[in-house]
Amino acid sequence: MSGASRGEFSSSFGFIMAAAGSAIGLGNIWGFPTQTAQNGGAAFVILYLIMAFLVGYPILLAEFTIGRHSQSNPVGAYKSIKGGSRFVPVGFLGLFTVGLILSFYSIIAGTMVAYFISPFLSLVGANDAAAWVISQGVGANMLFASLFFFLTILIVAAGVKNGIEKWSSRLMPTLLLILVLLVIYVLTLDGAMEGLKVYLLPDFSKVLSAGLFTSALGQAFFSLSLGVGSMLVLASYTSKKENLVRLGRLVTLSDVGIAFLAGLLIIPAMYAASASGTQIFDEAGNLISGPNLIFQVLPALFNSMGSIGVALSIVFFFLMIIAALTSTISMLEVPVAYAVDNRNVARSKASIAIGVFFWAVSMTIALNFDLLFNLVVTMTTQYIQPLLGLFICIFVGWVMSRNTLIEELKQGNPEIENSFFMKIWPLFVRYVSPILILIILIQAF
Ligand code: PFF
Repeated sequence: MSGASRGEFSSSFGFIMAAAGSAIGLGNIWGFPTQTAQNGGAAFVILYLIMAFLVGYPILLAEFTIGRHSQSNPVGAYKSIKGGSRFVPVGFLGLFTVGLILSFYSIIAGTMVAYFISPFLSLVGANDAAAWVISQGVGANMLFASLFFFLTILIVAAGVKNGIEKWSSRLMPTLLLILVLLVIYVLTLDGAMEGLKVYLLPDFSKVLSAGLFTSALGQAFFSLSLGVGSMLVLASYTSKKENLVRLGRLVTLSDVGIAFLAGLLIIPAMYAASASGTQIFDEAGNLISGPNLIFQVLPALFNSMGSIGVALSIVFFFLMIIAALTSTISMLEVPVAYAVDNRNVARSKASIAIGVFFWAVSMTIALNFDLLFNLVVTMTTQYIQPLLGLFICIFVGWVMSRNTLIEELKQGNPEIENSFFMKIWPLFVRYVSPILILIILIQAF
């Protein structure tokens, strides 16, 4: 299918917002601070930064290059690039995995919607409803995950320019603004400074544990939306005039930057909550983390603050919804792009059909939450995403010709051939990133 009928971003700003929107999500504002809180504060931050730049950034650029070169989705890309036919199953695995991620992600994103509307229900006196929506029971999970699917389908069906670009460009600057305001406010609270210390002063005794490397790598993969094809597809809609290396750097820096800012919000907020009487350590003396952090500690903090707390809570959960939505659209876009590019299905039909399919998967997870939720999260994010990243490294590092890569990267960046980047990036894609992924995967098994 030709570039024009596939859709194209109208500006680099639009593309950056969409790619940063994909990267920045619950993984940054929820996953990163909780992992940091659990794993020795600043020590984890340092390890994560290393993983994001040494493994994440090279793979991100590999995906960008395949995507823009092929002007296609993961399956179409492997089909069209010389030597790629054996990788087609990898492309399909990506399409399916990103759908599974969408399925569990929408359940958490739905809970954010529930926490967002709960105060409004209380305000009109519907207290039972206000409590029910945040109960995280099966019914509430199904309802709000469905709502999230509906929004995602609506935006993806509207297309690249009028859907993804338009909404990402509106939502991402809003997200940044809200986040900064919240950070400033939280840092003025009693107890916040203690949290800031935990966050910024490393406890190096924790860095050396092997599990920490796995967590940091998994976090980098998930946070940068790598392996499953989101970044590849988004790059396939960028113009040949864009400098991919620069765009990749901007996307990585914004992702890492927002994660860092989110840490400045969440960890001091936990200690502020503690100062106002909320329990932030579990029985074993560890900081509460995982879903409980955001769904127990923060609401407790907001509650202790009276009416300003209600306002803050609404703003905070709105922020989470924005972050999640710009990520879910980039997930659904991957299989939709395949249906549009390779199966000639109209975009609106593809969005609905594929959206409904993964909605059904999501409902199955919600109905069997205890059995399936953690299983699907671990399988997709800790194993399959890095595995797919490994295949991308093999394909770009060992199968695609260096000439093809240079010719693609030269567009929008004519000096690249003799640049420092071109000296070290191939080394990373060939050796450093895949070896690190392999070591960590083997150890995880
Ligand atoms: N990067 C997103 C986050 O940090 O929340 C999650 C994500 C988006 C994962 C898109 C995978 C993906 F394809």
